[in-house]
Amino acid sequence: MTENVDQGHQAEEQTQRIGRELWAHLERRRPSVFERRWWLDHILEWAMADESVKVQMFRFVDVLPMLRSHESVTRHLQEYFDEVKTHLPLAARLGLDVSTPNSLLGKALALNARTNARKMAERFIAGESVEEVLLSVSKLRKQGLAFTLDLLGEAVVSEREADAYQQQYLGLITGLSPLLNDWPENSTLDRDEVGWIPRCNVSIKLSALDSQFKPIDPEGTSARVKERLRPLLRAAREHDAFLHVDMEHYAYKDLTLSLFKEIFLEDEFRDWPDCGIVIQAYLPEAGDDLESLLRWVQERGTPVWVRLVKGAYWDYETVVAEYRGWPCPVYGQKWQSDANFERQTEFLMRNRQWLRPAIASHNLRSLSHAMAWAKVLDVPDKAWEIQMLYGMAEEQQQLFTELGHRVRVYMPFGQAIPGMAYLVRRLLENTSNDSFLRHAYDTSVDVADLLQRPAASPTDADLAPATA
Ligand code: FAD
Ligand code: 2OP
Repeated sequence: MTENVDQGHQAEEQTQRIGRELWAHLERRRPSVFERRWWLDHILEWAMADESVKVQMFRFVDVLPMLRSHESVTRHLQEYFDEVKTHLPLAARLGLDVSTPNSLLGKALALNARTNARKMAERFIAGESVEEVLLSVSKLRKQGLAFTLDLLGEAVVSEREADAYQQQYLGLITGLSPLLNDWPENSTLDRDEVGWIPRCNVSIKLSALDSQFKPIDPEGTSARVKERLRPLLRAAREHDAFLHVDMEHYAYKDLTLSLFKEIFLEDEFRDWPDCGIVIQAYLPEAGDDLESLLRWVQERGTPVWVRLVKGAYWDYETVVAEYRGWPCPVYGQKWQSDANFERQTEFLMRNRQWLRPAIASHNLRSLSHAMAWAKVLDVPDKAWEIQMLYGMAEEQQQLFTELGHRVRVYMPFGQAIPGMAYLVRRLLENTSNDSFLRHAYDTSVDVADLLQRPAASPTDADLAPATA
């Protein structure tokens, strides 16, 4: 007990030290006004600065891929933005006022809207075709980064779509793996504490494998998903690929966890270590779920990877719970999710021989804290990895790589329509007042505030350990 408290103090000291060192490096790498990134960040900031504009922007981005003609794009722009027109900059206001949907100006406005939405999408989505994917992953490899590929598509509506989704993943695994296996070795990316780790790494949302993914029918859903998942696991095993199961809405969480546990206990897959699952720290249940995963994996006898995230569906969960009058499943305050993320990071580091830690965040405090615990518990760099999303915190991706860490970038690719839900989540995340990244690029921010221990108030932050 006293040992744990001592280690907690050491970890906090190390977090502050590491965080300040990282910050000093990052300060020298902020994108300048001469770089494309600076403009992308600022366009996004402008577009999202006003809550009412933001809501209309999301409605518009959501519907845009379905609009076929310039006329309908302009009509939707006018319809959605009319009520918030007074909040827009003058140029945008004038554009909306003077354009009739069928006029030349209307067409120019529509084209401009499409181009800007495409630019926003390109920032977070790596490409559409397999050729583009290969190009993107080769580029990442040259930068010393590992990757996990996500084929965009959730909420499939027919069995045909679910089959097509499964086939695309099969094609990806069988087509890409042999090409990647010819690459020269990079020991940071290709080896962990125990041995070789697959280069071809895919992430998958189980709900896309069944058009009837329904938590109220766990047995039927589970049987259908497993039927489509088994061929993927066989292909991954045969071709040396890694398969990571993503976590979606809270309503799917228990079913996803039980499906994962069941299929990876089957004789055929029980001794296969190249698989992983996600735990979301914005859920107060995350700790119990991890304890239960630990018991399960010990029974299984072969470790699995756990990607620890805060959770991408915060807005959705809070709105749905309020609308239905249900208890909200996620924490209500940001510091609570951060503090839980830290508790579960420590848990993973302590149990890494079973639950191998993939710490997925762009938050300097959260990552410094993970590095600190790795130091305090003598966890070698190879035994855990840092994961980040494509298009986010590129300077940090590069910095952690240079410091000798394995950084894996989550790369979504695919078509615009299935990509919209993903894009909207990234826009919400990047423009939320609580987002770490939003503050990290603000030059007036004090590093001491960014590295503050997550707690209800600064006074509480001085007390150990952090509590929810
Ligand atoms: P921070 O800015 O530190 O944290 C933002 C997060 O804090 C929000 O996303 C939300 O979870 C939480 N938050 C924000 N406001 C509040 C509030 N008022 N109260 C409580 N909590 C709040 N997410 C999934 O759900 N499933 C996945 O499978 C998944 N896979 C991922 C894979 C990778 C490689 C990465 C990097 C992220 C993944 N995510 C996934 C997304 C992740 O959950 C986060 O949304 C994202 O990483 C932002 O968190 P952060 O620590 O980088 O940033
Ligand atoms: C999402 O789809 C990254 O899985 C996460 O938002």
